[in-house]
Amino acid sequence: MSSPLTITIGICGFGTVGQGVWKHLERSRALLETRLGAKLVLARASARDLKKKRPVKIAAAKLTDDPLAIATDPKIDIVCELMGGTGLARQVTLAALTRGKIVVSANKALICAHGAEIFATARKHGGHFFFEASVAGGIPLIKALREGLVANRFTRIYGILNGTCNYILTQMEERDAPYADVLADAKRLGYAEADESLDVDGWDTAHKASVLAWLAHGMWIKPDRMLVEGISRITPADFKTAATLGYGIKLLAVITRDFTTNEISVRVQPTLLPEGNVLANVSGVFNAISVTGDIVGTTLYIGRGAGQDATASAVISDIADAVALLRHGKGAHHMGDDAPAPCADCRLAPPERIRSRYYVRLSVKDQPGVLARVASVMAKHHVSIASVIQNPSDRIGAASLVLTTHESDERAIGATLKHLAGLSSVLEPPVLLRIGDFND
Ligand SMILES: NC(=O)c1ccc[n+]([C@@H]2O[C@H](COP(=O)([O-])OP(=O)(O)OC[C@H]3O[C@@H](n4cnc5c(N)ncnc54)[C@H](OP(=O)(O)O)[C@@H]3O)[C@@H](O)[C@H]2O)c1
Repeated sequence: MSSPLTITIGICGFGTVGQGVWKHLERSRALLETRLGAKLVLARASARDLKKKRPVKIAAAKLTDDPLAIATDPKIDIVCELMGGTGLARQVTLAALTRGKIVVSANKALICAHGAEIFATARKHGGHFFFEASVAGGIPLIKALREGLVANRFTRIYGILNGTCNYILTQMEERDAPYADVLADAKRLGYAEADESLDVDGWDTAHKASVLAWLAHGMWIKPDRMLVEGISRITPADFKTAATLGYGIKLLAVITRDFTTNEISVRVQPTLLPEGNVLANVSGVFNAISVTGDIVGTTLYIGRGAGQDATASAVISDIADAVALLRHGKGAHHMGDDAPAPCADCRLAPPERIRSRYYVRLSVKDQPGVLARVASVMAKHHVSIASVIQNPSDRIGAASLVLTTHESDERAIGATLKHLAGLSSVLEPPVLLRIGDFND
């Protein structure tokens, strides 16, 4: 019997995810080697600070501060880029791909910024790039889109892709607590970064939406071409008002394509979801995604979207695919890392074609005639009001007005809000939430 193939792995970045991958590969080595039919060697790892104390122990000789030495080491077959960022991470990724190696990445920011270059480099030099851990952590969403749902055209994908935001929103709702207090708690518990803006302003979700839109539709749409809004202006009162209307509030990425016009829309927005929708009930740091394909209908995916173990699980699944590729070549069973076919006639949907119902919260002077003025502005922009709720305001002499609308579009609602913000009776910039009447 021939001895099993030996596959050598290098880990660039020995932080949360890198150590998780090392730990679980070591712990599950025997099982993985049996399942994969290959001997796995964890050769080296890199970190910036070699003196830092780390929970996962590693022989000093195996730890380097030079990730490029790992990426270019001819003995290493699989390079895991687990550093983050778009500078050195790009260099490491391209150096490995140029040498025909397999790169496994969890880095959505890098893929969003340089995906086209990375996949072109892989194609040109015979390298391969796997990135299951970059979106929705431990949920095998990329595999589902690429393999399980390969027969489908994706009319709509939407989901909760940022666990930090979902944790904050859940806590605000459950504890009736203001955003700033919950954010401070989230930082203390390590659920939010010291600089929280990437998460709470929606950019991390936008990076992931960009990766999903490319996988589903073959078009790179960067965050600066999306509608991206964060969660920082939501208040506990919004949850109460939403509940009286029968909704919860979630930060969603929504990717839609109209296959008759080939217009694609990608947006990241806090959204009212009907209480009966499964995603409306996904709490805490969990992620959840709804994928609608033209053949399969709607499928749902729920699980841990981040954290050491869940992310390591996704990285190791990519390592397993990489091992299969090294053992068997691009076999018939292997959907692998082919880039999706580019869509030549796809384009971004213009704002007037992105339609929704809306929730508008206004802080207004508590005076007669204000509601009539607001209603006339909305009528001028052809936005039709569905309901009006007046709540008391913390501000003396002010009232909080929540208006929901019938279906309108982004251009009309944008013009309406600009007009409303200019009224002397409107005291603060309006808050706008989309109403996602998604029933599955
Ligand atoms: N954490 C998660 O739950 C999660 C989930 C999904 C995806 N991801 C992605 O996984 C990647 C890694 O995240 P992480 O949370 O593991 O980050 P992390 O804990 O900050 O670890 C980053 C590692 O890379 C090293 N590093 C960073 N910059 C470097 C540089 N310029 N030169 C050399 N080494 C450098 C760090 O060295 P030191 O240790 O010496 O500082 C550290 O070992 C990111 O792309 C992230 O977006 C993370």
